[in-house]
Amino acid sequence: MARVKVLDKEFETSIPEQTILEAVDRVAGKINADLSDKSPLFVCILNGAFMFAADLMKRVSIPCQITFVKVASYEGTGSTGKVKQLIGFNEDIKGRTVVLVEDIVDTGVTIEGLVAQVRSLGAADVRIATMLFKPQSCKKDVCPDYVGLDIPNDFIIGYGLDYDGYARNLRDIYTLIK
Ligand code: IMP
Ligand code: MG
Repeated sequence: MARVKVLDKEFETSIPEQTILEAVDRVAGKINADLSDKSPLFVCILNGAFMFAADLMKRVSIPCQITFVKVASYEGTGSTGKVKQLIGFNEDIKGRTVVLVEDIVDTGVTIEGLVAQVRSLGAADVRIATMLFKPQSCKKDVCPDYVGLDIPNDFIIGYGLDYDGYARNLRDIYTLIK
């Protein structure tokens, strides 16, 4: 297992790139089957979801659009419980099928807020696609429709996920060594 040091912390590989990409294939396959006649609008939730969204969209073969919103809730290795919206929606989503694309659903605070926002903007259907899901820590009543991998409640980095802005570029996922 490979180890990396990021700032003051050490991490080791927990999910290799190949496992990640197989999970992305499965998610894309389900979306292609479910939404083929819905012309969905994918919403990539920046920053963390950029890598998952890119790999996912390359495998989505149905007519669709993609847009980006930017929110932040994490500081260091923990959720602040508050979500700051830094870039919002520009497009008309009234009547649309919207797929929110997340890197990870942890407490569920981020996704719950965005689901409410998309509904209030008049979307016909809101779905959640997340690369990673930490079921133990999910305190909210929002269930992702498409999950790449279920993971334990540990702090992870890589594949878009960061520690204080670092390590988003790593191709594999790494877990904090306690
Ligand atoms: P939630 O609002 O608690 O569900 O957290 C959502 C956001 O926190 C995610 O979109 C990530 O950007 C970030 N996050 C949650 N868990 C981790 C982690 O283990 N490592 C890095 N970022 C995380
Ligand atoms: Mg995120």
